[in-house]
Amino acid sequence: MLQERIPDLSKFVEPDRVRREVYTDTDIFELEMQRIHERVWIYCGHESQVPKTGDYYQVQIGRQPMLMVRGSDGSINVLYNRCPHRGNMMVGDRNGNSGEFFRCSYHAWTFKHDGRLRSIPMMESGYAGTRWGKDNPDCNMKPAARVENYRGFVFASLAKDGPTLKEFLGESRVAFDDMCDRAPEGEVEVVPNCFRVIQHSNWKIFLENQLDALHPSVVHQSTGRAAHNVEKAIEKETGHAPLSYHMLSAFATVTIDKWDNFQTLSYPHGHCILAGYMGLRPTDPDTLAYDKIMIKAYGKKRFEEIVGVNIHHVLIYPGLSVQSPLQQLRAVRPLGVDRTLTEIWHFRLKGAPEPIYRRSLAYYNLVNSPATLINADDLENFWKCHQGLSSDGGDWVSFARHHGHDIEKNGVVETAPNCGTSEAPMRGQMKAWAEYMRG
Ligand code: FES
Ligand SMILES: [Fe+2]
Repeated sequence: MLQERIPDLSKFVEPDRVRREVYTDTDIFELEMQRIHERVWIYCGHESQVPKTGDYYQVQIGRQPMLMVRGSDGSINVLYNRCPHRGNMMVGDRNGNSGEFFRCSYHAWTFKHDGRLRSIPMMESGYAGTRWGKDNPDCNMKPAARVENYRGFVFASLAKDGPTLKEFLGESRVAFDDMCDRAPEGEVEVVPNCFRVIQHSNWKIFLENQLDALHPSVVHQSTGRAAHNVEKAIEKETGHAPLSYHMLSAFATVTIDKWDNFQTLSYPHGHCILAGYMGLRPTDPDTLAYDKIMIKAYGKKRFEEIVGVNIHHVLIYPGLSVQSPLQQLRAVRPLGVDRTLTEIWHFRLKGAPEPIYRRSLAYYNLVNSPATLINADDLENFWKCHQGLSSDGGDWVSFARHHGHDIEKNGVVETAPNCGTSEAPMRGQMKAWAEYMRG
């Protein structure tokens, strides 16, 4: 049907603009699920979400309800949340512990944590002579085609072929390296639970916003200004305002021209990095205490390398937005052409003092949570964008800002100096999208 209506999808993506149907057409959405989300490496969760044997966590990959589960050998499996008997969902809770095995609530077929059939009631009397039994793989819970883990972050791909996780992530691996390296023990652990927000807009609108370095000075200016006033007042009164105010006031004090000093880097597969901003190195007593622990763990030289990584944001296409210096991660799960779930997680640096965690928590609550005005202002624009794109008021979405100034070297697109607000990351995402959609 899509083929009849839109015979050549590639005509919908030009270097500096994209047709609106890319965001609003339900058949295009279905094809995206098939050709992108149910094929590439999708983030399932962090291994610390399932610490014990039998712990499971539900995760949506494309349109597929999946389960991430810890096996008795310590490995993590990703399985379709479906009983091979009559199709019942194996678990209904978002997360929990299955005990020694999964037991279907309908007719009590049981399965090992890797999905293999363990037992069927009346196996001998009821199934002798039928095709159903332990030797038939159709009697197992189906596993994801591939599962890999990078520094504790578990990904699955529903396609058996394709690049390895490491190849797929490429330079965007820095998101996880930067996050884990900042922990004195070299690891992070998840803070349960996450915030979940359903946005009434297409999933790509969220991703395009992540490295849109122009929008903060516009969308978040009012919040930044209000925070700045309070910060100044506290400073006047006490001589020192908590760092958390700075997290919000920066939205007003970092003006558009300053954002232009940042740099974006776009990589194959649609991944991109916004470099700058987070490189700030506070010298308050909490940070200095943390620095001391880090130097003890890594030595001075390595410590300087670790905290010298200057990244604000890493976007791993098509479903992950990571702010590594403050241990924030948002996973994007498309639910429909105009409905997108984001899971908003944050992490604890293992071995770091409590105040460093508090900083991450403050950023989580102040900038990324559903309760903050920052998030609300973004959500309003996402919804309004989707409404506008659903209208007949125009056919194209423009990504032309600083177009023609991109510097391409070995498949990596760097923005030219003073072009930090370039729409190059969106151009990169749509280029990857068009490649995926070709099939
Ligand atoms: S549907 Fe699961 S045992 Fe019957
Ligand atoms: Fe924003």
